[in-house]
Amino acid sequence: MALSDLLAVPNSLESRDRRSVLHPMTDLVRHDREGPLVIDHGEGVRVYDDTGRAYIEGVSGLWSISLGFGQERLVKAAAEQMAKLSSYHMFRFKSHEPGIELAEKLLALAPSPMSKVFFANSGSEAADSAMKLVWYYNNAIGRPEKKKIIGRIGGYHGVTIASGSLTGLARNHTDFDLPIARVLHTDCPHFWRYGLPGESEEAFATRLADNLEKMILAEGPETVAAFFAEPVMGSGGVIVPPATYFDKIQAVLKKYDVLFVVDEVICGFGRLGDLFGCNTFNLKPDIMTMAKGLSSGYLPISAVMISEPIWQACLSESSKIGVFGHGFTYSGHPVCAAVALETLAIYEDLDIVARVRRMAPVLQDGMAALADHPLVGETRGLGLVGALEIVKDKAKKESFPPAANIGLYIERRCQEHGVILRALGDALTIAPPLIVEKADIHEILRVVAVALDETLDHVRREGLM
Ligand SMILES: Cc1ncc(COP(=O)(O)O)c(C=O)c1O
Repeated sequence: MALSDLLAVPNSLESRDRRSVLHPMTDLVRHDREGPLVIDHGEGVRVYDDTGRAYIEGVSGLWSISLGFGQERLVKAAAEQMAKLSSYHMFRFKSHEPGIELAEKLLALAPSPMSKVFFANSGSEAADSAMKLVWYYNNAIGRPEKKKIIGRIGGYHGVTIASGSLTGLARNHTDFDLPIARVLHTDCPHFWRYGLPGESEEAFATRLADNLEKMILAEGPETVAAFFAEPVMGSGGVIVPPATYFDKIQAVLKKYDVLFVVDEVICGFGRLGDLFGCNTFNLKPDIMTMAKGLSSGYLPISAVMISEPIWQACLSESSKIGVFGHGFTYSGHPVCAAVALETLAIYEDLDIVARVRRMAPVLQDGMAALADHPLVGETRGLGLVGALEIVKDKAKKESFPPAANIGLYIERRCQEHGVILRALGDALTIAPPLIVEKADIHEILRVVAVALDETLDHVRREGLM
C-alpha cells in the first residue's frame, strides 16, 4: 500500500481490524468471533472502553496497576526522566542515577540481606535470569552436576522457554514442547483441593515437605540446585499456603543445600499486607524476583535480587571468563527506573502496607460471606487478593466439566455489570488496585453476588447441575 493510501484511511478505531493482534492467554477462536474489549483510558480504579463505558478494574490489569490509573506523579516522573535521559544501557561500565538509586532502595527494603540487584523487563525475564544465575553459581563453586530446578504444580513464573518450563500449568506447556529438561514440579499446596479426608493443614504441609524431600532424594541431592515459589500462588488460582508449609519446605531446602528463589512478582510491594510475601511467611530467599507492582505496572521493569554468596560467584566466574555475559538492552532503563522510584515513594507516602491491612478485611470478609452460595466451593485469599472457587458440587468439591467454561461465563457476567475480574480455570480472582476504596470493594462484591446468581440460572438452564 502506498503512503498516500495509508494516509487516506480514516484514523478511527471503527476502520481498524480489531483482530490483527495475536492476543496472549486468549481463546483465539472466540476472540476471532467476538473481538476484544477495547480499553480507551483509565482513572483511579476504573477503566473506560471505547464507547465510554466504565469498569472497575478488579484485578489491577494483571495484578500490576497497584496505584490505579492516571497517577499524576508517575506521569510526571516518566516525562521528566524522558526529557533528561530518554534511554541508556548498563553494559560495559555504564550506569545512570535512577538505576543506581533504585537498586540501592530495593536493597534497603529487602526482607533479608541481599547484595546486588539485576534489572530486566518482565517477570519472565527475571525468572529466566534467576535460573541462569543458579546454574552460573553452581558452576562457579565447582558443582556442575547440581543444576535441576524444582517448581510447583500450579506455580506461575512466566512464559519464556525457561520460566515457562518452571510454570506448573498445563495450559502454558501443551504443544509448546515445555517443560525443558532439568525442570521438575512438586505438589501444589492447595489444602482445600488436595488435603486428604481428616488431614489437618499442618499434616498436609508435612506431607508436602516430605514429598519434596523424596523428590530431592530420588533425583540425587547433588543434582538439585534450586526451588522456586511464589509466597501466594497467583495465576494458579490464588493459593494461600497452609499453616507451617514454608517453614517445613525451607528446612528441607537447607538440609540438601538447595537454593530458595522467591517469586515476588505478584506478592511484592504490599499486595498481601506486608511489603513482601517473604515478610508474611518468614521466607529467607537466596534470590528474589519482582516486577509488576515495582512500577505499578506503568512501565516494564523487573528486578532480581541476589544474596552475597551468589554475587561472589558472579564475581569469580566473570573474572575467569572475562565478562558477566548476561543482560538486556533495556536492563534498568532510566525512564522505567525513575517511574519505579516514584512508585516506591508513593507507596511510602500512602503507607500502602497499612492501607492494604485496613482494606483486606473488607475484601476477605466480603468474599467469605459468599461462601454459602451453591456454586462457591471455597473462598480464599490474603490482603487484597482473593478467589472464589466455582464448583458443581460443594460437598464433593466437584468442578464443572472444562467444556462448560464456567469461569469464563462468570467473568463475562461480571464484565457485563461493570467489573473486570479474571477467572483462572474456575477460580474467579479479585485483586483490586491497592488504592481501592471500601465502596469500590462493596461494588465488586455486589456484582460478584449478582453474577453468581446468574451463573446458577445458566447452569440449571443448561442442565449442568
Ligand atoms: C508470580 C509471577 N511470576 C512471573 C510472572 C511473569 O511476568 P511477565 O508476564 O511480566 O513475564 C507473572 C505474571 O503474571 C507472575 O504472576
